[in-house]
Amino acid sequence: MDKAKVIAAMNDALRLELASALKYLDWSFRVFGPTRKPVVEHFLEEATESIDHATMLGDKIVSLGGKPLVVADNPKTPDRVTLDDMLKLAVANEEAAIDAYTKLLGMVQDETHLRVLFENQIAAERGHLEEVSKMLRR
Ligand SMILES: [Fe+2]
Ligand SMILES: [Fe+2]
Repeated sequence: MDKAKVIAAMNDALRLELASALKYLDWSFRVFGPTRKPVVEHFLEEATESIDHATMLGDKIVSLGGKPLVVADNPKTPDRVTLDDMLKLAVANEEAAIDAYTKLLGMVQDETHLRVLFENQIAAERGHLEEVSKMLRR
């Protein structure tokens, strides 16, 4: 594998996970109505898990001899959003995570520990995508 390219792509994923944590936290503050509680809980679980994923990436970047870049883009959620708008944004967010880990998986085919790590990440993000897609289903 090309270690420098893998570290750069892992830093891209780290930035994505940190932005994801901020987005889910932001969305958790904006849920209203009788179905508020489970959705807020879901968003807060996702925020925590995104931080866990960011931590895993940072630790692994250090193990590979790289420097984790702890930066996050500001969430750009419009002022007025409905619950369905946020769930659709969550779908896009999870799809972006799957894309990032799929790209990484393609770069580390000769490194079993990284291949397994990114396969597990894809499975986890796929689980999130399926869950939020079910929440959107009527
Ligand atoms: Fe994640
Ligand atoms: Fe996720």
